[in-house]
Parts: sequence; C-alpha cells; structure tokens
Amino acid sequence: MCGIIGIIGREDVADRLLAGLRRLEYRGYDSAGVAVVENGVLARRRAEGKLDNLARKLAAEPLDGTVGIAHTRWATHGAPTEDNAHPHVVGEVTLVHNGIIENFKPLRDALIAEGRTFASQTDTEVVAHLVDRELQRGLSPVDAVKKVLPQLHGAFALAFLFRSHPDLLIGARLGAPLVVGYGEGETYLGSDALALAPLTQKIAYLDEGDWAVLTRDGVTIHDRDNQVVDRPTTISGLTGAMIDKGNHRHFMQKEIFEQPVVVAQTLGSYLRPLAGEVSLPIPEFDFTQIRRVTIVACGTSFYAGMVAKYWFEQFARVPVDLDVASEFRYREPVLEDGGLALFISQSGETADTLAALRHARAAGQKIAVVVNVPTSSMAREADLLLPTHAGPEIGVASTKAFTCQLAVLAALAANFARAKGRLSREEEQEIVRHLAEAPAAMNAAIAHDDEIEALAPLIAKARDVLYLGRGPDYPMALEGALKLKEISYIHAEGYAAGEMKHGPIALIDEHVPVIVIAPSGPLFDKTVSNMQEVQARGGKVVLISDAEGIAAAGEGTIATIEMPRVHPLIAPLVYAVPVQLLAYHVAVAKGTDVDQPRNLAKSVTVE
Ligand code: G6P
Repeated sequence: MCGIIGIIGREDVADRLLAGLRRLEYRGYDSAGVAVVENGVLARRRAEGKLDNLARKLAAEPLDGTVGIAHTRWATHGAPTEDNAHPHVVGEVTLVHNGIIENFKPLRDALIAEGRTFASQTDTEVVAHLVDRELQRGLSPVDAVKKVLPQLHGAFALAFLFRSHPDLLIGARLGAPLVVGYGEGETYLGSDALALAPLTQKIAYLDEGDWAVLTRDGVTIHDRDNQVVDRPTTISGLTGAMIDKGNHRHFMQKEIFEQPVVVAQTLGSYLRPLAGEVSLPIPEFDFTQIRRVTIVACGTSFYAGMVAKYWFEQFARVPVDLDVASEFRYREPVLEDGGLALFISQSGETADTLAALRHARAAGQKIAVVVNVPTSSMAREADLLLPTHAGPEIGVASTKAFTCQLAVLAALAANFARAKGRLSREEEQEIVRHLAEAPAAMNAAIAHDDEIEALAPLIAKARDVLYLGRGPDYPMALEGALKLKEISYIHAEGYAAGEMKHGPIALIDEHVPVIVIAPSGPLFDKTVSNMQEVQARGGKVVLISDAEGIAAAGEGTIATIEMPRVHPLIAPLVYAVPVQLLAYHVAVAKGTDVDQPRNLAKSVTVE
C-alpha cells in the first residue's frame, strides 16, 4: 500500500508533487518517485528509502513539466529497490499504483510469452504493459484504460500519465481510495484529501469501480459500467499547513502528550457531564434490537476492540465476537439478524477492515464505525458513525487515536447498557463522572515521563520483554508489547497474566524484563500472584500500578511506575500512557526511527 498523487496544471508540478508525497509518507516509505511530461518527453526520478532521498535527487536534477504523477511505496511485490519504485514506464504509458493486482502472475506470463520484457518485479508493471499493448493496437489512452481495467483483479488505485498526451491524466479506483481535486485551471488526483490540501479543498471521492479522466479544465468520472456519473464535490476542511512536531522530538512523543486534550475533546461529543448523561452523535440509532455485537479491527485498533468486548459484555450484557479483520471473513462467521458489526480504525482505510465491513453489510448486519478520519471509506459506509477527535496522527505507531477509540467505546458501552435497560440513572452518572476524570488522570500519568525515560536504558538492553495484565488491562499488555516491537524492534509478547504458567513462564530468567500492568481493583490480587510466580523464578519485574498497589506489591521489583488511583473503567485509558512512553523512550535509547519504523506503514490498504 502506497500513496499516489497526480497534477495536471499550468505551472511546473514536480515540487508540488513532492510536497504531496510528504503528506502521504504515512502510507509507506520504502521508495518514492516522480514522473513529468514536457514537450513529448517523459522524465522520471526515483529513489530507494525515505522521501528525503528523492528530494535530494530532484534538487540535483530538477524536473520541468506541468503534468505529472508521483508515488511513495510500501513494498508488496518486489524488494524496495529503485527498479521496483514507481512510476513505472512502458512505452507511452507511465503509471503509479496503490494496492495489489492479484492476477498479475498469469497476466505477466502471457505478456512475457508475447515477447514483452519487464524492468521490475512489481505487479504494477503488468498494468502498464496491458495499457501499452492496447495503445499499440490503435486504441486511445482513454479506451485503452477502459479496456484494461476489467482485466485486473485485486485492489487498486491507479494514476496514468501518457507521454504524447500532456493534456491528460487518468485515475481509477477499486478497493483502494482515490480522490479527485478541482483547482483553478488545474485538476488533481490523490490517495486522500490530505495530500491535496495545499492545492485545493474542493474534492470528490471516487466510488468503487470508478475511473476518471482529468484535463486542465475538468474531470469526467465514469462508473464501473463506463457510464458518466456525477460524484458530489465536498470542501475538505483540511488546511495546507503541514502538521509539525511543536517542541517535541518526534510526532509520537507529541501525540502521546496530546492525549489528555484530544481524549477530552472526544469525550466532549459523547458525554453531557453536567447532566451525567452519555449522548451519541446519532441519538436516533436503535440499540434495543441489537442482540449481538461483532467487533473487527487490526493492530492497535483491535486492542481497543478487545477492551470494548469486556465493557459491552459487562455493562450491556450483550454477547460480543471479536476478530482481527484479516481472519474475520475467512472463518465464515455466523452473522444473524439483529447483529451490529463494529469496525474500529484510525485511518478508516485499512483494507482488511474495509473488506470485513462490506462482508458484514452483505450479511445484513448494521454497521457501526469508530474512525479518526471522518472522510474515509469506512466513515462513508457506516450506519452509525462514531468519530474520534484525535486530530491527524502522524507517528506510525498509534497512540492518541487508540485512547480516543477507548473513550468512544466506553461511551458506546454505556449507551448500549442504558438502551438495554441495564443501567440505572445513578450508574450512568457514575460512569460519566469517571470518564470525565480520564483526561486529568492521563495528565498525571504523563507526569511520570522522566521516571519512565530513566528506566528505558535497562529495557533497551533486553532481547525479549513480556507484558502481563488481566481483564481489560490484558489488552494493554498486548498493546504495550506491540508498541515496543513496532518501534524498538525488541521482541515482546503480551500475556493474560494467568496464562503465564501455561508456557511463557519457561522463558523467565534474569534477562527477560516482565512489565506487569496491575491497577488496584478486583483483579489486582490475582495479577500480583502471577507476578510473584515470575519473581520466584528470578524474573525482573517492572510494576505499573497506583500508590496503593505499589505499597502492597512493589517489593522485589526492579522498578515501579506509579499511576494515579483510578476507577477500573478508565484504567485502560490511563495505563496506555506508561506503556506508550516506555516503548517511545526505549526506541529513542536504541536510536531507531521512531516515527517511521522499518517495514511498517500507518495505513495499510492491501489485504
Ligand atoms: C497499521 C499501523 C498500526 C495500526 C493498524 C490499523 O498496521 O501501523 O499502527 O494500528 O494499521 O490501522 P487502522 O487505521 O485501521 O486503525
């Protein structure tokens, strides 16, 4: 999955394409490239690795041209080399692609049998050859693309540029997002509205199967049946200003520190604290008929879903199924009438989650979406849209989007419980009061940043780290381990504390730090028993708890991190902070690229 941008304009486009790629780098940073056409000449610059490498090349060898396309890559087919970097050029055709062409192998074999040679190992180059073949057979660029699109299986967003047609760009979308932008005497293609924000705010989202022909004067959009269609234009509301790190060293650090504010903002649209009421953005949605909830998500968002399962079952007494999106469709889930399928996603574009959403919709489920990008594909396909208000999250490792998801899910659980007659007025008031305390408690957690930083060099030496938690804090153990893996490249596992004795305890020795997440509450004693089983075997424990918990169980640990005393309901929001900070400081101590860790991308639009 990758980021794409195209401009057909009146002034040189290369610098603006590069600026667009900077806004798309969250989609991948294995390689990048730009191609422009001027006076019938196609010129291209490509570079392995981060965008700065391409920027250096462009500075050394600038490109002139008023029409061009550009790409930032997250490698799927073929190593992240310059040869595999987009744009790909075959004859007249230049092409960038986001997604996977699943039938590329038979197509490629057939093209090779016809005597065509390939310059890369990508699936993308197949598309360029197919379109070039149609051009050679005498079709126009528009007819050639129209003929090739139905031959492609898989998911794609494509942008085509033609050497002999400097007045033309063509875009196509199936299963991967693509937007069209309208400027003054210019038009644009982009993976999202953010990429186009400095160029225009006037955009149209292509629907599945759409393809669009862009000239300087306008855009003609066709649907999958090749009928000309109107897609509504919207004003995106995003500004051209580049989001910056403020006084922070990394976006991730800034985003961790922002959490009290953005969680408060998010709760502000789900709670009426003075009235002691939960209030969802779509009050008319009828929860009384919902008999089962199916939660589906990926990565960090999945762990938010895991916490929600505890809450929905505890408060609303509604049964919950939970799946990672890449498994959901393939296990043939039983989705009965009266089911609510709930999808959680920061980006709203994750391909596995989006495919799962469509599967659930086809199976007659009501669709609820907790999403941070309100213009995303998932947001647009929801019956019940539940936005988080985390603001743009740039660090690849999700932090503030996660805690905002938890805030929304807690409010949703309470709303559900009320609709089901499971929550008295007093109980609702109490839940609202506790949730309203979360931002201040998260602030108090952040105040322990220095202690956590001091602990980081010790953890940075480890090869393996274990995280333990119970109940809704078990997903925090999983999330803590994921954060550490993602950005410090240390092997880490999260376990349900009680499960340790069934295997992982064999790993324990003095070299494996064990991070125990144990807020005071009904599960504290049990978690501490499991922690003592680790200590009895020479394990080095870091205990994250409140003052009472540390007083009761801190003895014999190598370190303690003190959290404020909070109600168990909001403990996951508060205890997310120290595990994020620990991963952050360990990564800084190890000198890794915190905001853009190797092999990852923020938004994964391939299955
Ligand atoms: C990627 C990111 C993760 C994120 C996951 C799900 O793997 O690196 O940080 O949790 O995708 O993304 P979503 O946008 O659907 O929440």
